[in-house]
Amino acid sequence: MTNFTYSQAALDRLQTSDAEIFDALMHEETRQSEGIELIPSENYCFPEVYALLGSVFNNKYSEGYPGRRYYGGQENTDRIENLARDRAKAVFRAEHANVQPLSGCAMNEAVDFALLNPGDMIMGMDLSHGGHLSHGHPVTNMAKIFKYTRYKSEVPSGVIDLDKVRAAALAAMPKMIICGHSSYPREYDYAGFRKIADEVGAYLMADVSHLGGLIAGGVLQNPLDFGFDVMTTTTHKSLRGPRGGMILCKKELGAKIDKSVFPGMQGGPHMHQIAAIATTLKLVQTDSYKAYAKQVLVNAQALAQALLAGGANLVTGGTENHLIVINTLAGFGISGDIAETALDKAGITLNKNVIPDDTAPPMKPSGIRFGTPAPTARGMGEAEMKAIAGMMLQILRAPTDETMLAKLREETRAMCKRFPVPGLENMQPKAIAA
Ligand SMILES: Cc1ncc(COP(=O)(O)O)c(C=O)c1O
Repeated sequence: MTNFTYSQAALDRLQTSDAEIFDALMHEETRQSEGIELIPSENYCFPEVYALLGSVFNNKYSEGYPGRRYYGGQENTDRIENLARDRAKAVFRAEHANVQPLSGCAMNEAVDFALLNPGDMIMGMDLSHGGHLSHGHPVTNMAKIFKYTRYKSEVPSGVIDLDKVRAAALAAMPKMIICGHSSYPREYDYAGFRKIADEVGAYLMADVSHLGGLIAGGVLQNPLDFGFDVMTTTTHKSLRGPRGGMILCKKELGAKIDKSVFPGMQGGPHMHQIAAIATTLKLVQTDSYKAYAKQVLVNAQALAQALLAGGANLVTGGTENHLIVINTLAGFGISGDIAETALDKAGITLNKNVIPDDTAPPMKPSGIRFGTPAPTARGMGEAEMKAIAGMMLQILRAPTDETMLAKLREETRAMCKRFPVPGLENMQPKAIAA
């Protein structure tokens, strides 16, 4: 037992000291417990993560790195950061690891500033084809500092034509090329990208924020095995850790990366978050986590196949990872926002999403995006994926049928009851939800 009154006692205190926030927390527990979460960037963290995020490590200032801090009292924080770094290197076969970035965008910004100069050209995947905002979208602050150029996938196959990428790279001569996405359902040809980066003399970076857990679990390729210079990943998606970011890189870039994170971008690292990252990186080495990672992909196939059989129009025709994008406009005549709202009413949460070269605006796009990390974390399998696909098809075909939506809401609630959220096994939803 620890000495502090963590968890229940602290929550009891919260109930009287801030009843409004306590109430929101209880309702959020109910929402997460009773709904099917299909947003592919979300997950249920390991229960140990909650303990560390709510621990006294939150109180500690640790500016600097293990062995070289600007404050005293670091014997325990040095220990956890060293463990986190060593485990990160072991899990991802990396030469160097920095576990301090506060989250995903910050880690990518730190890499850009570490390796490049203002005005340098960065080449990343087009947002509508799956790339992420932090890879140089014009609305971001980074686009004011660096120049960006984009590559795309072929429509409808989803294949990235490396000859076109090479030609674009030779024309733009980027200083860095980024492989990585938040909505691309296919694997990359990492070896092919390495050749192009070598030819134009660019750094090669992979942002595997979505895939980190699946790489750790050994079910997807690891870009570092293909000689990538840098790989970044968030820690809260498929990895099931706390919110956060990690930078893994070649040894010779380590000092530049570390300096860019601190003091370049951040002050005190969040040591409670780093403690939770360390534990996450231990838990992802277990056999049960490896089985989980495998099941995420099996479930994605089951979901994709059932949707295809029901006539859904899957971007790229399927999936090779944990996520699926559907063109709802082409398949069902409705925009992604209408689909998102109707599915939410039935207890299935996902997000509206642009499709490749979408001409519709991001708040009213032509598709939806969803995936299997979260339902798999609660133990759902292929049978549940088929059932969920069946419900989704009914909803997409008749998104305004409120009677049907209400009926399906009861079905999703019943399904969720059979698969408790990790950490919420003792949930008494009806008693809690006022
Ligand atoms: C590929 C990719 N990179 C970076 C990020 C940014 O992460 P964060 O939201 O933690 O800043 C995301 C988040 O969705 C992502 O998918």
